[in-house]
Amino acid sequence: MAKIKIGIVGNGGICGAHCAGYDREADRAEVYAVCDINIERAKALAKRYNIPDERVFDNVHDMVNLPEIDAVSVCTWNNGHAECTLAALNAGKHVLCEKPMAFNAKQAQEMKDAADKAGKLLMIGFVRRYGNDCKVMKDFVNADYFGDIYYAKATYLRRHGSPGGWFSNIELSGGGPLIDLGVHVIDLTRYIMGNHKPVSVYGATFNHLKNRPGVSNSGGYKSADAGSGEIFDVEDLATALIRFDNGAVISVEASFSLNTKHDKGDIEFFGTKGGAKLSPELELYSDVNGYLTNTQLDFPTALSFNGLFENEISHFLDCIIDGVPCQSPAEDGVEIMKILDAIYESARTGHEVTID
Ligand SMILES: NC(=O)c1ccc[n+]([C@@H]2O[C@H](COP(=O)([O-])OP(=O)(O)OC[C@H]3O[C@@H](n4cnc5c(N)ncnc54)[C@H](O)[C@@H]3O)[C@@H](O)[C@H]2O)c1
Repeated sequence: MAKIKIGIVGNGGICGAHCAGYDREADRAEVYAVCDINIERAKALAKRYNIPDERVFDNVHDMVNLPEIDAVSVCTWNNGHAECTLAALNAGKHVLCEKPMAFNAKQAQEMKDAADKAGKLLMIGFVRRYGNDCKVMKDFVNADYFGDIYYAKATYLRRHGSPGGWFSNIELSGGGPLIDLGVHVIDLTRYIMGNHKPVSVYGATFNHLKNRPGVSNSGGYKSADAGSGEIFDVEDLATALIRFDNGAVISVEASFSLNTKHDKGDIEFFGTKGGAKLSPELELYSDVNGYLTNTQLDFPTALSFNGLFENEISHFLDCIIDGVPCQSPAEDGVEIMKILDAIYESARTGHEVTID
């Protein structure tokens, strides 16, 4: 079987995680062409894969013209997701597009329409769906352990954790921690709860602390272009209540900067028969024989981002090669963008926003 030839556009931090996934799948795929507006970054990646100069690009439209390429990983700044995905789909390539799918729901819908028209796969990089913890929770949901899950908390708080560079520049990112971090936990929580349709949102955003100028940073994930003197015109904290058509509600919180003791990534579910905390370790809550019970699984469910990306890339190839149904399809990306649009609108207007 011929290997799937991959073009990767955006050769910064997260491109490395995609590459690790393709490396693990060396029998089925090869990184064949690379592209970055920072050509030196593209050349450095090309060197690692012995990719010749004629397959190193600084413009996605040139890369997707290569007829040999089967599929494209889109790992650019958020403002490039729609342009790069549309270029690849229109050139007849399958696409794995990083989260957030786009800047807004309108762009996301255009991307989905282009995939439908081209008859190509458009998978969204909702990487948290590919974790063990997600699979285990789904298994418990399917076994009706929780009954009706009517409330959930989706938290992704960083005390001092802006990734820097473009992440805090609204023209390049489209927003702050909500579109960057909140998107992960909103999607994961909604997915586990059964992907119900969002109907309304009440949200608020703040930008009091920004990137905490003058406070030393203890590290964490950084953009390839992180540096001093960055623009910070996004929110530093977002919070929202999201209501779904089955009556369930998700409460979300996401921050780059917040006066709290620890970074926090808790995701909690509350159902009529049982509840659970997903991160950092999976714990189940119920009552048995008239006693409140807490259950810990003797099974590795702790979050490991590297394993997640490798699972995600394997699934992308399974979809392309074997026609396996996509676990994080474009239609879910569109729904999540509608939620994010509505939260930002609610924060601007101070009112609840309904979603069509
Ligand atoms: N799934 C996850 O957990 C996860 C984690 C981090 C980042 N991401 C997403 O991955 C994407 C990239 O983030 P990153 O951390 O790698 O950023 P980064 O700043 O480290 O790298 C981005 C790269 O894209 C290049 N680029 C920007 N626009 C381009 C364009 N139009 N064409 C070609 N190259 C372009 C930049 O020059 C840079 O080298 C973002 O959308 C981000 O939200 C996802």
